[in-house]
Amino acid sequence: MTTSGESDVDKVRRLRAQLPATAATGYFNAGTNGPLPKPVYDVMVAAAERELTAGRIVPGVYEGHAQRNDRIRELLAELFGGKPHEFAITRSTTEGLNIALNGITWHPRDEIVTTTLEHPGLMVPLSVVAHGADVTIRVADIGDGSGDVVAEVERLMSSRTRLVALSHVLWSSGAIAPLREIAAMAERYGAMVIVDAAQSAGQVPINLEESGVAVYAMAGQKWLCGPEGTGALYVRESRFADIGPTHVRYAQSDVSGYILPAPGARRYEMGEAYAPSILGMEATLLWLRDEVGFDWLYRRIAALADRFLYGLSQTPGVTVHSPKGKIGGLVCFNVEGLAPIDVAAALYERGQTIRYVAYPPGPEVARASVGWWNTEEEVDGLVADIGALERSGPTRAQPADAELVAG
Ligand SMILES: Cc1ncc(COP(=O)(O)O)c(C=O)c1O
Repeated sequence: MTTSGESDVDKVRRLRAQLPATAATGYFNAGTNGPLPKPVYDVMVAAAERELTAGRIVPGVYEGHAQRNDRIRELLAELFGGKPHEFAITRSTTEGLNIALNGITWHPRDEIVTTTLEHPGLMVPLSVVAHGADVTIRVADIGDGSGDVVAEVERLMSSRTRLVALSHVLWSSGAIAPLREIAAMAERYGAMVIVDAAQSAGQVPINLEESGVAVYAMAGQKWLCGPEGTGALYVRESRFADIGPTHVRYAQSDVSGYILPAPGARRYEMGEAYAPSILGMEATLLWLRDEVGFDWLYRRIAALADRFLYGLSQTPGVTVHSPKGKIGGLVCFNVEGLAPIDVAAALYERGQTIRYVAYPPGPEVARASVGWWNTEEEVDGLVADIGALERSGPTRAQPADAELVAG
């Protein structure tokens, strides 16, 4: 029962009516892109229409964009902790990670510690930075993330470590990294923590102020159900001096007299964003806050994922790769005798959208993103469909690299 007296069943039914994709398929793929809310779509269509008919730049439009961005920063601070001026509006997680990693002044023989389960969205910019600056990347083997991640990371720390870079939620196991403990440990070595939050924003709770991390790079299109080409970057104010803006744009600088970075994390924004998308991002955050409720959605994702994990554990021939009790909604598994790519394809034919992930050295797995919009019946139905898959043995060739790593 929700605080308004509406039952969860009624609430989910009401919200699903605003998520048309949930009627088309069992939607278990927010780890790639979440289902788009109709009210958000309406805001974007109206904005595109306005641009077409009233003109894109008429008096007041630029001021409107600036006010809109300020409102978004305030919303981000309200929802994720931190202060409004610690947020930059970006186009993706990867953009945010690039901004932060390239903004650090690296010295030869500096070291970065990361983990074996990172997405290329982090590993690729990390590698470019390390290569260009003669920095060493040390990779902690954290298994599926269910063990003592802090100890595994600490094992590789030294007086040379400048940075710990890792995901809050690991994309190929679903495990949640203990950020506060990692940040506290890193601080003892004088290192900062940069977090890939692609899978965590909108899936698991976070208070950025309390987390101790320096940087948290989020995606708009995944668990936040917003438009593609949107994201947000949190940079702790005390780290502004350590992370310089590397790409600068006139609107993000103070050009009155001296040329200075804009105050606050706005200095990291490159713009020029597509106005309807950014309005869509604002509409998404408002919709999640006012219609859905973040506490409610975090709790519901965790409860449904537990239900799904339990169902899988009772299904013969299924191996679960997500540690029970340590995950949000990302559940990774394999079906004996079937390649993950074939599991995803066969389930799609049965009306269930999941995906598979593979990026060495992580495992190749099928992955269901259990969202708050899923019903209990859908979760049980997915378990039943997985149990009913015909085990014909791996059949497909590996797909192209780009397909392997997306999402
Ligand atoms: C853990 C992780 N990091 C980064 C990314 C890339 O995110 P974005 O497309 O927002 O850059 C993804 C997903 O695609 C991901 O799962």
